[in-house]
Amino acid sequence: MSPIVQYQKRVNASKPKRIVPYVNIAGQHVEIKKEILNAIECVIDRGDFILGKEVSKFETLFAELCGTKYAISLASGTDALVLAMKALGIGLDDEVITVPNTFISTVSAIVLVGARPVLVDVKEDGNIDPEKVEELITVKTRAIIPVHLTGKPAEMDSILAIARKRKIAVIEDAAQAVTATFRGTPVGSLGDCGCFSLHPLKTLNALGDAGVVTTNDGKLAARVKKLRNLGLTSRDNCDEWSGHSRLDTIQAASLIVKLKYVKKYTEKRRQNVERYRNLLSGLTEIECPQEEPSERSVYHTFVIRTEKRDELQKYLTTYGIGTAVHYPIPIHLQSVTKRLGYGKGSFPSAEKLAETILSLPIYPELEEDDLNYVSEHIHSFYESRKR
Ligand SMILES: Cc1ncc(COP(=O)(O)O)c(C=O)c1O
Repeated sequence: MSPIVQYQKRVNASKPKRIVPYVNIAGQHVEIKKEILNAIECVIDRGDFILGKEVSKFETLFAELCGTKYAISLASGTDALVLAMKALGIGLDDEVITVPNTFISTVSAIVLVGARPVLVDVKEDGNIDPEKVEELITVKTRAIIPVHLTGKPAEMDSILAIARKRKIAVIEDAAQAVTATFRGTPVGSLGDCGCFSLHPLKTLNALGDAGVVTTNDGKLAARVKKLRNLGLTSRDNCDEWSGHSRLDTIQAASLIVKLKYVKKYTEKRRQNVERYRNLLSGLTEIECPQEEPSERSVYHTFVIRTEKRDELQKYLTTYGIGTAVHYPIPIHLQSVTKRLGYGKGSFPSAEKLAETILSLPIYPELEEDDLNYVSEHIHSFYESRKR
């Protein structure tokens, strides 16, 4: 059953005039399915499923896209973070600073290498607050992980200045931000390395899990490459323990096809954002995300803010409009982080965001009528509250 049909079933009770699901991954593939199948067929015919020809081709193209010397493809974005930290020598007793309002992976990767996550609050835009970072740095701090949340670049010049001064690494969590730029430079090329997710929900997406580490540092690239392949230095020699985390050749083949379209699709997302901004302008009850002249955001998500988030979300659902919250429970309030000693009130800005943010559908396949429909119902929700 397609996602649209599934969604339709869920909202059918109220029989809305139109259905606008939050995501439409199947719809994305209509235009390019044949091209992808042809590319996969070539791999099947050759049989080089592991580290085959398309893997290195994809890595060359992805490095070009990010403006880095190296791109090492992996099995997921989570592995990208884990292997980047391992390759930088981060482990037991080390501390790594990151934010509490991110996908769980950013923090779990720190724990998985044996280090301690040190969380820092965010600014109103949801990205790391550089002013709060410096006071958290100790002799144990080995890295800062700014997350380019929603596809909006974090304030990288301040973060890099702090890190350079203290000789600690900057690992960009660029999972949501393929092709975003900060002062004209692509994310993933600003810090010591960038970690990308190419999960199906991302703006450049595989047909399953996938990830990439980008870097200009040859030594770091070589170590990530070794760690993704059992620590082998050649077919028969191993000099360090590791598991494996390789991008399948068939995934690389499909990603090479998709890379051709990523800029066009991102532009369409940005056009959708402009359309929403116009359609929602004048509504004082909601705030749309801002973009500074120094940034080019890619809108992995389009997140509005409103005090009546839960009511609005419910209302939109009854009209067939899918929305989501990224993320409803900040990481410091998850049961898994109890031992870190944080609690309610530890990060007021992240907590406020968790209560007020709502992600609207933003994918490239949305039609103008979809955007009009969503916006009309946001207006009608606030009209109905005035009565
Ligand atoms: C900010 C962030 N970091 C890390 C990840 C982990 O990526 P993956 O799901 O590919 O492991 C994601 C993906 O959802 C993410 O959004």
